[in-house]
Amino acid sequence: MARRKKLYEGKAKILYEGPEPGTLVQYFKDDATAFNAEKKDVIDGKGVLNNRLSEYFMTGLNNIGVPTHFIKRINMREQLIRQVEIIPLEVVVRNVAAGSLSKRLGIAEGTALPRPIIEFYYKDDALGDPLVTEEHVIAFGWAAQQDLDDMVALSLRVNDFMSGIMLAVGIRLVDFKIEIGRVWDNDFQRLIVADEISPDSCRLWDIETGQKLDKDVFRRDLGNLADAYTEVARRLGVLPSNV
Ligand code: C5P
Repeated sequence: MARRKKLYEGKAKILYEGPEPGTLVQYFKDDATAFNAEKKDVIDGKGVLNNRLSEYFMTGLNNIGVPTHFIKRINMREQLIRQVEIIPLEVVVRNVAAGSLSKRLGIAEGTALPRPIIEFYYKDDALGDPLVTEEHVIAFGWAAQQDLDDMVALSLRVNDFMSGIMLAVGIRLVDFKIEIGRVWDNDFQRLIVADEISPDSCRLWDIETGQKLDKDVFRRDLGNLADAYTEVARRLGVLPSNV
């Protein structure tokens, strides 16, 4: 098959030109990076698992009316997506204290939060994706106030959906990151969930044992990352046949 034109290569994914205008092909690599790419490895099968898991979550979101960029999975590592104009913010939703929140504020990991907390990080590798406030977002024109309101609403709906499906398989959704993009339908701008939703971008803890089933396994050298992601896929009933 003729190779498609590569448009962008990131740490874990590659974007190729899609078959139709307004579409892209998203390819999931096996590369794992952490701490702004200071730690790197190749985890056999990770791309296949994340392609399948992101398909599962985004299809579910599409089905309940939360719009995402996902159109269809093409093969083990590739999916067809809608082209969006990415808003340069990472939106993190937290249900339980962990990671950078615990470090920054001295709140013990595992402390349940009184309500979901939404944070914005400015997407800039050179700056290490700094935490920003809504004031920064508006002042520097990364998004308008209406976009921010829509991003908060979208993120909370993703949180409700993801928390529910994880709870059903004995997993606590501690936190996650999403990226959001703009699309235009008949000159009407809409915000939709883009990028990926996978154990690379979520914290997932087994409810009974507290075992980590997400990228912290790699960040903190807690064991085999592919085994953790395989367990998530197995519980959700979406284990790819030949990872
Ligand atoms: O590191 P921190 O605690 O801020 O991460 C919060 C959540 O966002 C975690 O689930 C983490 O995996 C995700 N995240 C991400 N990509 C980043 C930063 C955080 O997927 N660049």
